[in-house]
Amino acid sequence: MTQDELKKAVAKAAANYVERTTPAGSIIGVGTGSTANFFIDALASLKVKYKGAVASSEATHKRLESHGIPVFDLNDVDNIPVYVDGADEIDAGLNMIKGGGGALTREKIVAAVAKTFVCICDGSKLVDTMGKFPLPVEVIPMARAHVARELVKLGGRPQERAGFVTDNGNLILDVHGLSITAPKELEAQINQITGVVTNGLFAMRPANLLLLGTAEGVTSIED
Ligand code: 5RP
Repeated sequence: MTQDELKKAVAKAAANYVERTTPAGSIIGVGTGSTANFFIDALASLKVKYKGAVASSEATHKRLESHGIPVFDLNDVDNIPVYVDGADEIDAGLNMIKGGGGALTREKIVAAVAKTFVCICDGSKLVDTMGKFPLPVEVIPMARAHVARELVKLGGRPQERAGFVTDNGNLILDVHGLSITAPKELEAQINQITGVVTNGLFAMRPANLLLLGTAEGVTSIED
């Protein structure tokens, strides 16, 4: 199976999960990226059951609308039973690195509201120790150099993502060379640096359920 076929298979499994577990009339949280895009396509076929979605990025907003799925402002929604999103890396404790697509801040906000976070990944994303994938950090532009110096003190090699501006008007520093053995602590430490909006570690709010696409089929890990 190709990587895209694995992503499609987990996206379909997530849509089935939403159909099975989510009360009619719910508003679903939807992530960003290629796997999340397959999920949006699968979600479109369940249209009748749920009321609409909250998007974690402008790109996701557009894709949901292209399927005729109503998109709600998060400030008008107080209950999201499930949030479905991909990840760049995930460990057995369901901690994740996210933000390869640069949407980490809005993803973290929607995930904070959601009751259940379902992570959908192809098998290559499951790792023993996170950090091989450079950790994205969203930064207020005027703080770039300061934040970069602080990240070096934490043992990383930050690199500005060239030509990229987030949906919030900020830049991304991708931090190479980290071996993340204490994800919660590192997430908190980086968020304490003045000028950081947030970082791509999802350890304080990990996933609740991982649907993993493998050649043998979709397997799941629950918290
Ligand atoms: C976007 C993300 C994505 O979930 C992550 O980058 C995985 O993307 P893909 O499904 O394309 O592999 O965090 O900000």
